[in-house]
Amino acid sequence: MVGVVMFFITYCGCIGALRENIHLLKAFSFSLTLVFLAQLIIAILGFFYSDQTQDALSKLVKKAIVHYRDDLDLQNLMDYIQQEFRCCGWNNYTDWSWNIYFNCSQRNPSKEKCAVPFSCCTPVPRETVINTMCGFGVQTQKYLEAAESIYTDGCADSVVTWMESHLMLVGTLALGLALPQIAGIVLSQMLVSQIHNEIKSLL
Ligand SMILES: *[C@@H]1O[C@H](CO)[C@@H](O)[C@H](O)[C@H]1NC(C)=O
Ligand SMILES: *[C@@H]1O[C@H](CO)[C@@H](O)[C@H](O)[C@H]1NC(C)=O
Repeated sequence: MVGVVMFFITYCGCIGALRENIHLLKAFSFSLTLVFLAQLIIAILGFFYSDQTQDALSKLVKKAIVHYRDDLDLQNLMDYIQQEFRCCGWNNYTDWSWNIYFNCSQRNPSKEKCAVPFSCCTPVPRETVINTMCGFGVQTQKYLEAAESIYTDGCADSVVTWMESHLMLVGTLALGLALPQIAGIVLSQMLVSQIHNEIKSLL
């Protein structure tokens, strides 16, 4: 879709410039301006709504923690985040108490009581038999003790930092694309006024 539109715009620009057709050139300049304004609006929305994006992200991760055992997609997502960012929970590892299976209250009958999922575990070098139970009981341990077997820091900081740096990347890319567009608008406008002058001098 975008390709077709861009082809049409470029076609107007090329033929317009070659044949010095003022209507095509004007159409070219006008559509470039439209595309540019659309990008500007998207960039501004992205900038001002990054708080909302962060809220949505935080809600999603909290939901993934609560429904970890009920929804395979959320489980995969949470495992991926924790391993990729080397973190556990949203604020810290004790957030796993939000999940009824991992909840660390006395009365919890689950065998995973006070545990955290295996994806929280730090890899042990040269380990021959992987200990899938390494997260068991860690919620009863203090931060430093727990840090010997699992990632103790929550995912909030690293995920938000990641999101911000990617928004920056998108913004920079948009700016990089905007410069040639502005050049196109200016050049086609110059050509239009040049043609106007030529027509005037002929009359
Ligand atoms: C984990 O985070 C919660 C909420 O921010 C906080 O109340 C708690 O003290 C933290 N626990 C540890 C062990 O850092
Ligand atoms: C853990 O379960 C208990 C009892 O069901 C509940 O009162 C408590 O709020 C739960 N903990 C968290 C962090 O949700």
